[in-house]
Amino acid sequence: MNNADSLPDTLRAKLVAPLDMLGRQLHDLRISVMDRCNFRCPYCMPEAKYSKDFAFLPSAERLDFDEIVRLTRLASLLGVRKVRITGGEPLLRPNLAELISELRSIESITDIALTTNGVLLGQQAPSLMAAGLNRVTISLDSLDPAVFSIMNGGRGELQRVLKGIRAAADAGLTHLKVNTVVQRGVNDHTLLDMLDYFRGSGIVVRFIEFMDVGNLNHWSMAEVVPSAELLQQIEQRWPLEALPGNYKGEVAQRYRYRDGQGEIGFISSVTAPFCGACTRARISSDGSLYTCLFAERGMDLKTPLRSGASDEQLLDMMRNAWLQRTDRYSEERATPQAHHHKKIEMYFIGG
Ligand SMILES: C[S@@+](CC[C@H](N)C(=O)[O-])C[C@H]1O[C@@H](n2cnc3c(N)ncnc32)[C@H](O)[C@@H]1O
Ligand code: SF4
Repeated sequence: MNNADSLPDTLRAKLVAPLDMLGRQLHDLRISVMDRCNFRCPYCMPEAKYSKDFAFLPSAERLDFDEIVRLTRLASLLGVRKVRITGGEPLLRPNLAELISELRSIESITDIALTTNGVLLGQQAPSLMAAGLNRVTISLDSLDPAVFSIMNGGRGELQRVLKGIRAAADAGLTHLKVNTVVQRGVNDHTLLDMLDYFRGSGIVVRFIEFMDVGNLNHWSMAEVVPSAELLQQIEQRWPLEALPGNYKGEVAQRYRYRDGQGEIGFISSVTAPFCGACTRARISSDGSLYTCLFAERGMDLKTPLRSGASDEQLLDMMRNAWLQRTDRYSEERATPQAHHHKKIEMYFIGG
């Protein structure tokens, strides 16, 4: 099944792109291919909880590549055009390039991206590029080795991540981005150095406000540096000019250096929520569908997948999940109800 034309009429009739309860389309799918990680970033997978005894999924409980591709094909019939592979750490998933090339064969998927901590990128960038990966985002919180180490739970070497970024560029991967989570009092004194390093390289650094994802990172507003504050600081060093979004629903606010040395971005989901334009769904490594990063629960697709559900049945489930979607957590964060909300952990559904 490559496109809607090859479908039976009963299925084709259902393919009007669904709108959720707030009028939003489904356009992006984030797929977590691995719940494990080789880092222990305290804001995501704190070591105290994810120690060596933690029971991650046995590999048979993770969706296999055929299952991921099948769900992605179905999601493409509901409007998905862009896929992001994430985790946990996606490069820990064996043979990831095979998955990329299978996803590439879905005609209506026009963009395949990857988010990684970059440690294994040096080895894998050429095969990922050859398989058809379009874009890579590397998460890197500081260029100061001591701060880098605090931010990733004492795992991984900074030089390896930088080498991974160079390897991605050498392999011909374009649109490289670096995502930096900003935590007040932890890495906020190292951000100008980060910009200085990547200015003029074509690699876009984006600062992400520390978010209250999951239930374990002891999030507090006091540790969030509002993007507006950062913007002011940066402008004192390098004057900036706002850029229009690349597309509707883009999460980052874009700016360019007035001296022509490239672009930076801010992802401000705490101080400037963008729920109103959110077109993203997520599939966890164990095959549940989530309609929000801050969701409490997902819809189990693995059980029907493994007990013989037809494409039509799976499509109905996904379509109904989207039609019933009311999520707008970031806009409701300050309300009392939001505080009783138990969220799924981010490493599990992917960032
Ligand atoms: C969960 S990670 C998964 C992919 C990969 N392991 C990585 O780190 O790039 C995806 C993104 O979520 C971001 N992230 C995780 N926890 C966060 C938090 N509490 N606030 C903001 N961003 C967070 C990470 O920095 C990363 O850029
Ligand atoms: S942010 Fe990425 S690298 Fe850090 S612990 Fe989470 S999944 Fe791992």
